[in-house]
Amino acid sequence: MSRIDTDANKMLCYCLGVRYGAVVETIREHDYRTVSQVTRGCKAGGGCRSCHPEIEELIEEVRMERQGGEGVFATLGRLFRRK
Ligand code: FES
Repeated sequence: MSRIDTDANKMLCYCLGVRYGAVVETIREHDYRTVSQVTRGCKAGGGCRSCHPEIEELIEEVRMERQGGEGVFATLGRLFRRK
């Protein structure tokens, strides 16, 4: 099982009940570049906004992943170490 499969079920947006996996999938599928796009796509970030920095990091990591960077797995690891 890959790291994304393991971490995908962890909660990212507590206000709207959206997990990391759903956010990453939304960003990848639609190539979203802003938090507001992600919010429209999967509702994450539509409440208190405290998860916006994490969504912004995931957007950046997916962008880097597309360019051949280490990608979303590194971000997930960094985010979970912070909590
Ligand atoms: S935790 Fe995501 S909007 Fe509040």
